[in-house]
Amino acid sequence: MSAARRVWIPAAAGVAVATVVFAVVLLATSGGSAGGAAPAAATATLGREASAGRLVFAQMGCGGCHRLAAAGSSGPIGPSLDDALPHHTRGSLLAKIRDPGTGSVMPGDFARRMSPAQLRALVTFLLATRARGAG
Ligand code: HEC
Repeated sequence: MSAARRVWIPAAAGVAVATVVFAVVLLATSGGSAGGAAPAAATATLGREASAGRLVFAQMGCGGCHRLAAAGSSGPIGPSLDDALPHHTRGSLLAKIRDPGTGSVMPGDFARRMSPAQLRALVTFLLATRARGAG
């Protein structure tokens, strides 16, 4: 009896957490595209690869978890990238996206879901927002 309960509770909690995260990602993603007018202006100042990277950022759902002014996103789950990016290099960003690390909430399969060109564009975009001091 009690053994069954001990199994059931963590499973239910896991499902609940996953549901909440998914709902927040959906909300934040749709919110981001609804307010797409302002960031579209910002895109004009980005190079072609960085603009492609901005699209990858949206497609991969990064903005569902991360705040980034240049992407018009305000995801509340991960750290604000407006704050975090100044501490990163191209190498550290590639490493983080390819392998967020054991126990991270961040999905570990981005490297499989993106082509090398998409990954490169994404990091170029992130570095470009950092250089512009967005946020
Ligand atoms: C499901 C939520 C989620 C998604 C989606 C997500 N992240 Fe994260 N990310 C996190 C969390 C939570 C952390 C902080 C814990 C950690 O470092 O793993 C983080 C950390 C980071 C960091 C390090 C921040 C720091 O403080 O130095 C970077 C950079 C980053 N994410 C970029 C991205 C990019 C780019 C994408 C899309 C390809 C993405 N994340 C998608 C949740 C997410």
